[in-house]
Amino acid sequence: MPLRIVQGDIAAQDCAAVVTAANQQLMGGGGVDGAIHRAAGPELLRAIRRIGGTPTGTAVITPAFELEHRGVQAVIHAVGPIWRGGHSGEADLLAGAYRRSLELAVEHDCPCVAFPSISTGVYGYPTEQAAPVALTTIQDFLSVHPELEVRMVLYDAGSLQVYQRALARLVG
Ligand code: APR
Repeated sequence: MPLRIVQGDIAAQDCAAVVTAANQQLMGGGGVDGAIHRAAGPELLRAIRRIGGTPTGTAVITPAFELEHRGVQAVIHAVGPIWRGGHSGEADLLAGAYRRSLELAVEHDCPCVAFPSISTGVYGYPTEQAAPVALTTIQDFLSVHPELEVRMVLYDAGSLQVYQRALARLVG
């Protein structure tokens, strides 16, 4: 099955590419980004400082540094939107962050990519509304790249259920 939804820690995944939920300056520290930086080590910060930043709705790729011991080849830094009520292009920007991450994984020959739930933490995007956007974007991409394995990694049981229900609605 090319798309799997699992509960777990994004920093403990063994996918070739692991996605972090970053901000435009690529300088985060909390949530997913904090976990990825702790696991990848200080070289990751130096690598993203060299890149400088990327707009909302896009992503950039770096080596995975200490995460390479776990079989991770690359960290993809995706910038989702801050939730402003839903009428400021949030869905398109969220879809863009997922799509660009998937493109980068393919461009860098990563056979597997693990995503957190982008924007649904500090950025306040309601999980119920983010899940269908994320899953539709991933499924559309997989219809063109069925060789790719995608893992959605949810931290808490509540988010896991929301994503599982959203997937059931999509495929059902
Ligand atoms: N593994 C998987 N999921 C996690 C983990 C983890 N280790 N830690 C937190 N999460 C979940 C959160 O519960 C939330 O549902 O990931 C989702 C995204 O949360 P955030 O990390 O807050 O990401 P986001 O909402 O996109 O906010 C991005 O936070 O760290 C800063 O620099 C970052 O400014 C940016 C903002």
